[in-house]
Amino acid sequence: MDYFVIEGGRALHGRVKISGSKNAALPIMAASLMCDGQVVLRNVPDLSDIRHMQLILQRLGMQVERTEPDVLKLKVVDQSNCHAEYDLVRKMRASVCVMGPLLARRGLARVAMPGGCAIGIRPIDLHLKGIEALGGVVELIEGGDVLCKGKLKGTEIFLGGHFGSSVTATANVMMAAVFAEGTTIIESAACEPEIEDLANFLNAMGAKITGQGSPRITIEGVDKLTGGEYTVIPDRIEAGTFMVASAISKGEIIIDNCKLEHLMAVTKHLDDIGVVVEKYNGGAVVRSSGYLKPTDITTQPYPGFPTDLQAQFMALLSLADGNSIITEKIFPDRFLHVAELNRMGARLRKEGPTVVVEGVKQLIGAPVMASDLRASAALVLAGLIAKGTTEINRVYHIDRGYERIEEKLKPLGAKIERRSR
Ligand code: UD1
Repeated sequence: MDYFVIEGGRALHGRVKISGSKNAALPIMAASLMCDGQVVLRNVPDLSDIRHMQLILQRLGMQVERTEPDVLKLKVVDQSNCHAEYDLVRKMRASVCVMGPLLARRGLARVAMPGGCAIGIRPIDLHLKGIEALGGVVELIEGGDVLCKGKLKGTEIFLGGHFGSSVTATANVMMAAVFAEGTTIIESAACEPEIEDLANFLNAMGAKITGQGSPRITIEGVDKLTGGEYTVIPDRIEAGTFMVASAISKGEIIIDNCKLEHLMAVTKHLDDIGVVVEKYNGGAVVRSSGYLKPTDITTQPYPGFPTDLQAQFMALLSLADGNSIITEKIFPDRFLHVAELNRMGARLRKEGPTVVVEGVKQLIGAPVMASDLRASAALVLAGLIAKGTTEINRVYHIDRGYERIEEKLKPLGAKIERRSR
């Protein structure tokens, strides 16, 4: 099993190129199930989650091939299997994104119910509610699978839940509605850039979707989607992670292939903390002034502060001059990194869905355990600045969402090594 060894305390300087967005690429790959003809996707990161989606799609009768480092070619060759099995779905929740496309294109989707995961209970009630509103018949069958079938008809759907909008539920319902008869309106749709990207992809293949990026998405049903080429947006969470790397190490990093307009809540908080972010060459340059001010952060659906950067900002605010408060409004249990950061000398106190962060002067290297994707990123960031050696175990979590993060950090001056045991 791989682990990282990091010698902390070096300021990072240089340039880094951000990869394509994992969370945009995954549903777009699933949407290719609906296309007649070959789909060529560019700017697709080479990550274990992407390879996992490739495997699921292959089992569902697709040819999927990586023809260049960031290019995937996908084509449906056999429509007979409509079953995404538990052994595949349980390893990655985003597997549930095949439900909408299978139902829309093949009239049947059998998908294992995803279980809970390290960041908490994650239901799929909104996905199913949306599909039922479209006229799909949804049934929980033996083996913990959900069976969806039927001919879909356009309608108005309110898709808000207890925690606001849902990203993958919006993706699933939007995809299901592409071939529905008539017009579908999704109210309280997720506004995330990844949903906008999915809608733009579907439109490029022949769908008629408007309003993407807003809480009201309208889908006019069409008869078919073609194949074609599409370029996935850059990963805003990877970009935000490297912004924190620059800030926490008191360095200066030029971030290429990054859309600052997708990171407004993040750059606003960096500004509050005293970190300079400037537009540069189609990306950004991020510079730390050396002094970190405390701030309060509440995670929210887009365009609010992303839950996927909460852990990384907690590592950063651990070193601020004063107390910060971080409140998690999307996944209230997403705090597994708290205990590990405390092992490195942070002073974090969890109270319900809130963590009080008391700034300390220094973090200290320690052996720590990665628990989920973004928590692992926070531990890498903490290790970059901690005194002495940090060993991060279970880095397969980080490989799910960051393309060889150590290979991107090393040229910036980080002393980080991947080892196996
Ligand atoms: C997506 C992202 C994930 C990110 C999350 C929130 C992908 C592949 N993953 O996950 O990285 O952390 O958005 O930005 O894009 N909920 C329900 N019922 C449902 C669905 C969700 O109650 O049917 C709740 C969830 O438990 C959570 C909230 O809604 O509290 C938002 O979750 P959701 O947006 O669905 O997250 P994902 O799409 O799974």
